[in-house]
Amino acid sequence: MGTVNIASPQDIEHMRVVGRMAAETLLLVGEKIRAGMTTEDIDRLVAEDTARRGARCAPLNYHGFPKSVCTSLNEVVCHGIPTPKQVLRDGDIINVDVTTLHHGYHGDTSATFYIGTPSADARRVTEVSRKCLELGIAEVREGARLGDIGAAIQEYAEGNGCSVVRAFVGHGIGKKFHDEPKVSHVGKRGTGLRLRAGMIFTIEPMINIGGYEIDILDDDWTAITSDGSLSAQFEHTVLVTKDGCEILTKRDAVLANSEGIASLLL
Ligand code: MF3
Ligand code: CO
Ligand code: CO
Repeated sequence: MGTVNIASPQDIEHMRVVGRMAAETLLLVGEKIRAGMTTEDIDRLVAEDTARRGARCAPLNYHGFPKSVCTSLNEVVCHGIPTPKQVLRDGDIINVDVTTLHHGYHGDTSATFYIGTPSADARRVTEVSRKCLELGIAEVREGARLGDIGAAIQEYAEGNGCSVVRAFVGHGIGKKFHDEPKVSHVGKRGTGLRLRAGMIFTIEPMINIGGYEIDILDDDWTAITSDGSLSAQFEHTVLVTKDGCEILTKRDAVLANSEGIASLLL
């Protein structure tokens, strides 16, 4: 497929800037998120912080999405819509997915946060999804194949009693929010597109504690697990390099409320 962009040095510089903005906004969410807040409060926090940076929230009005950020609580897999009716409670897990648009470029990153004390299942699905992103990223280098990323994620998730959502994938990103290639989080090693230095895409495994099937609610956005089981997700935007990758949405501090234990900045 000749349809995957190779970023120019100028593109890369813009992607570093917007990637850092998205990462810093997600860090702010980690500092503020707590029981008693509503998902609407998170939406306002992200919208205000993004505006303060002179940037825009890419989700707002994207294919009709009504809010500035996706907030996906417990059995919500992705694309949860913030609302003043949804109050965060002790024991919840919630993914907050920030996509910043600045100077025509997009940076996309998400994390799952613990609200108070998580159940054993909530902790397991969250830590498995965090590790899946780390293992997927570790496969990225020039010459590797997209299938290597999916295989690494699938092996770890299924080996730890979880499943990998098929219905949503990572994506090329840059001037477009969602571009080629599609980055499946399942796959076979040695198959799929060969990675080249300068490709930029997201890896964003959605991991369920039960089955991988999903349903879409009547709002036409919210994706939930069909069996009602918990789901967790982490996402980074990465740039392929000769010998690995540069995580464009890497954080420079530990994410509060989510990374109390791990020192990894993923
Ligand atoms: N940020 C999501 C992703 O990782 C996409 C959200 S699309 C929206 O690809 F319209 F729901 F915001
Ligand atoms: Co994405
Ligand atoms: Co995202």
